[in-house]
Amino acid sequence: MFRQKIILNKKVKMARLYATCHGVYRLTVNGKRPDDREFAPECTVYREYLCYQTYDVTELLNTGINIIGMHVGDGWYHGFMTKAQDETYDPALAVLTQLEVTYEDGTADCFGSDETVKVKESPVRCSDLFAGERYDANRMPYGWESAEFIDDEWLDVVPADFGYQNLKAQYGQPVRPIMILPVKNVLTSPKGERIIDFGQVIAGRVRLNIHEPSGTKVTVIHTEGLDAKGNFFDNNPTADQRIEYISDGNEQVYEPYFTFQGFRYVLVDGIKDLNEEDITAVVLSSEKENAGTFACSNADINRLYENTRWSQHANMLSLPTDCPQREKAGWTGDIQVYTKTALLNEDITPFLTRWLENLACEQKENGSVPFVVPLAGAYIGQYEMYAEQFKTPEAVSPAGWGDAAVLVPFYMYCLTGNMQILKQQYESMKNWCDFVLRTARENRPDGSMIPEEVEQYLWNTGHHYGEHLIPSYSRDGYGEGTFEAIRVSTKYVAPIYGYHSVSSMSEIARVLGNDGDADYYGEMAQNMKAAIQKGVIDEKGNMPADLMGAYAMPLFYRLVPENLKQTFAENLVRKIEENDGCLDVGFLGIPVLQDALCRIDRRDLAYDLLFNEKAPSWLYEVKHGATTIWESWFALDEDGAPFISEIYGMPFCMSLNHYAFGCVDDWMFRNINGINYEEPGFKKIRIQPQPDDRLDWAKRTFKSAYGEIVSEWEKKDGNFELFVKIPCNTTAVIVLPDGQRFERGSGAYRFRTDSSDAR
Ligand code: BGC
Repeated sequence: MFRQKIILNKKVKMARLYATCHGVYRLTVNGKRPDDREFAPECTVYREYLCYQTYDVTELLNTGINIIGMHVGDGWYHGFMTKAQDETYDPALAVLTQLEVTYEDGTADCFGSDETVKVKESPVRCSDLFAGERYDANRMPYGWESAEFIDDEWLDVVPADFGYQNLKAQYGQPVRPIMILPVKNVLTSPKGERIIDFGQVIAGRVRLNIHEPSGTKVTVIHTEGLDAKGNFFDNNPTADQRIEYISDGNEQVYEPYFTFQGFRYVLVDGIKDLNEEDITAVVLSSEKENAGTFACSNADINRLYENTRWSQHANMLSLPTDCPQREKAGWTGDIQVYTKTALLNEDITPFLTRWLENLACEQKENGSVPFVVPLAGAYIGQYEMYAEQFKTPEAVSPAGWGDAAVLVPFYMYCLTGNMQILKQQYESMKNWCDFVLRTARENRPDGSMIPEEVEQYLWNTGHHYGEHLIPSYSRDGYGEGTFEAIRVSTKYVAPIYGYHSVSSMSEIARVLGNDGDADYYGEMAQNMKAAIQKGVIDEKGNMPADLMGAYAMPLFYRLVPENLKQTFAENLVRKIEENDGCLDVGFLGIPVLQDALCRIDRRDLAYDLLFNEKAPSWLYEVKHGATTIWESWFALDEDGAPFISEIYGMPFCMSLNHYAFGCVDDWMFRNINGINYEEPGFKKIRIQPQPDDRLDWAKRTFKSAYGEIVSEWEKKDGNFELFVKIPCNTTAVIVLPDGQRFERGSGAYRFRTDSSDAR
């Protein structure tokens, strides 16, 4: 705890407080928090990018003595899983504040966090984003935030100078409590445990009313799922997720300060008669404006949509993460796969803008981008391991993950028309493409039979994750099968992603008027396409692996030679039939599979995949009680129990909260309600619903940069009725299922298939 006494002798007209720390902080001014943000100063690449927050504290100050108080915990800066491992890392907790005051008489003062700050060990005995928190209420120096409190026993701080070059005003919305969930059920397990169920898998933490005798230890443990019999089962063996509170006998509302958990169920120990009103779940997320809604006549599809929304809340907490319980890491591939869906539902432009700036900080001199951003803590060892294994020092950049450098800003531009992000990331994007092209040119796989003039345009060396988690290989979780899937799918994934980034780069350069770059990357992309057609696809249309994704990706990215299109189409359909109509694609195959089917005129099959209830499928999850999107289709077995595999000799369960497979919502947006952009940012819109027999009505709204777009349809008396809303300064083409076509400017319109007399 840090405490600074500041004396203001005159009446304050206006005051700003700037604050940051090494760790995470909770700030008070005279005992009051200026806002409800959590986890300031946010997770960034601290050596280059440390946010400070700016607060209007005018109303909180008094004439006379004022106390600036800060609790500081480890957070990302000091956490074992997340701390930097370079010379800029300093193991001490540290704070930096500056109070700027303008008095009513027009004079001004400025107070920095100097040697007058006092410090004391806090009741938060330890905190960790993964392991949880231990809080001893007996250690709370009650009254410490008031002017009268005597802090003689507190220690003097040690002034330190870390320089100011990495400080940045916070950009992007803060983390806040976005919802409070009451208890949904109190379950008694066969083992006799009293399990509290909040009914929803979330990222957040519990808030407890505690009125236990002094010395009582209250513990809370968290999990996302129960075992097959309904007993408490920790589905996250790698992180403790444990809260401990030691009572001092006073009645208290306790919510952990500096940790959050991924959970749905908790076990509470130490509270005698826990009333349901005494515990709630606080949902935490980076606050973002809602941008979309969806509902249709099928309750399971609606739940699937809700599940994507919940996984999005949980995995956008200061940075885009893979999962909120096990890793909480900025995996670049996960957000690359999910960006489009995310933007259709929330305004995450500021959030992603900050993360992309940080991606550029982590980008190596040679243009490579690590698989997580920030690259810190536990991931450094992983990075080094791959660098050694693949002999690629400073260049561990898996296809589909590193490509986030180009594709995330590009998708942001496509959906919101945001040119600024393209300008901001331009150098980073080019560096990435140059890295891919250089790697393709200079490195060849051992024993390759592909002629060099072809192979120089194939990105096919280095460490990759392939499609990542192809179900037929990944039944065993992260076992040998998953690694085999990496080996086979990398052969097409890496060259195709290389092509996708480089061809997107050409478009980006053209948009910004950099014609030289546009021509260069355009030509390189053509060479890559030709190389894929010679070196990856054989003359009979075979791919390096007989997999759904292997056919879907070339079809989607328009890489199949004309004479082989039929073969690819047949192969893709065959794979789906062989697989009993179930999905067999991983993270990088899923975003293109249904589009590839539409491209070969098999939208019916794309819908079959959507409605399928057998594993692996989206509705298998829904039918098995999913409230979020799972990491793997097999995360829960048929009997509803977490599927347990093994990794590094430890039991391992898949996370129930990974958003990547939720990208199906992007397909639903463009197909069920048929909302498409014809020009970036929806300046020109096409509304062409492609209804399936299994749906009777569907409504989608989307807040585009120009205003709200609505596509709402219903089947009535054998007819199709469509209501659309087109925002100002845009135009739209509307196509009904019977082929009738209309052009409209902004406004609200109704159409019916039985008449062209649209209103
Ligand atoms: C993460 C993924 C990530 C992957 C890369 C996992 O541990 O949870 O979502 O993209 O590693 O293989």
